[in-house]
Amino acid sequence: MIKKPDFYDFLKKIPKAELHLHIEAVISEATIKKLFFKKNNVEFTDRAMHNLFSYEDLNGFIAAYLQVQELFTSIDDFDLIFDDLKNYILDNGLAYVEVFAAPSAFLKKGFSFSEMVKNYKKNIQKIKQETGVTVNLLIDVSRTFGEENAQKNLDLVLGNRIPEIIGIGLGGAETKGPSKDFGHVFQRARDNNLLTVAHAGEDVGPESIWDAINILHAKRIGHGISAKFDEKLMQYLADTQLPLEICPTSNVFTKKYVQIYEEHPIKMFFEKNILVTLNTDDPLFFGVSLIDEYWKLYTKLHFKKNEIKQLILNGFTASFLTDEEKESFKNAVEQTWEKFDAELS
Ligand code: HPA
Ligand code: ZN
Repeated sequence: MIKKPDFYDFLKKIPKAELHLHIEAVISEATIKKLFFKKNNVEFTDRAMHNLFSYEDLNGFIAAYLQVQELFTSIDDFDLIFDDLKNYILDNGLAYVEVFAAPSAFLKKGFSFSEMVKNYKKNIQKIKQETGVTVNLLIDVSRTFGEENAQKNLDLVLGNRIPEIIGIGLGGAETKGPSKDFGHVFQRARDNNLLTVAHAGEDVGPESIWDAINILHAKRIGHGISAKFDEKLMQYLADTQLPLEICPTSNVFTKKYVQIYEEHPIKMFFEKNILVTLNTDDPLFFGVSLIDEYWKLYTKLHFKKNEIKQLILNGFTASFLTDEEKESFKNAVEQTWEKFDAELS
């Protein structure tokens, strides 16, 4: 059994990918306080912070998420969350990140999408210069506000193409916006060479995952944990190696299919040879970092050390990097693992 500080030191040195991370949720408490003061000219109290992060389910969490988005009053506020992202990357030893950005709430209050995209590009380049890490964006067209809103978001993405935006995602309230309603949005994204991923099976049963596969043709499934109820679906996922972006702590918070960490299906999926990746979803909201998440797998779900390495490799396999880039990162994982593992034991 590795001691906690040794585990954290070791894992930090292994290059890792994170594929399911929402930029507005990498925000720090300090940034929340700054934005609140800028907007309201009064301090954001500890009690208000506690209340903000108290929710019982996915829809409650989404309401809190929208409250955080409401704190933004100008485009340069995004600089603060990209600084928080940079710190998160460094703290966790990330080598590559794919991040969701959800524009709907900002567009509703009059922000210009092209200005937002300019800001994203500037900040992604800054992170690259300062850390060497590549950040790619997936625009969450959102299922919360209906298909028409998602189509509008896609129009904006198509009208403001930058290489850093590699595709679209579908986040938000799964019970209110069924996967199948967004087939046309996803078709149009694919026709325009955008990659597509979708949250599914986070708050709705396996049928939502099947729709994300058969109607949305998503290249990865966000969460996908209700697949645990459907043997055929788990077999399909194993056969096709369609990746799942698993975020265990997030699922414990939103409660629908997992009450306690120890009963999370990630171990079963892994043992059935499904291509699972490990992610945090919303670090500040769920009080979790990527290394915490690996630590929990090690201590609560009894993943062995070599299984943790496999999950780290899966993160690159399931990414949208080129095959050469994947190989190069995976070699770096193998080499650093060998080197630091020898020091550890
Ligand atoms: N699910 C749906 N919408 C979201 C999530 C999530 O996990 N995180 C941020 N928006
Ligand atoms: Zn998510």
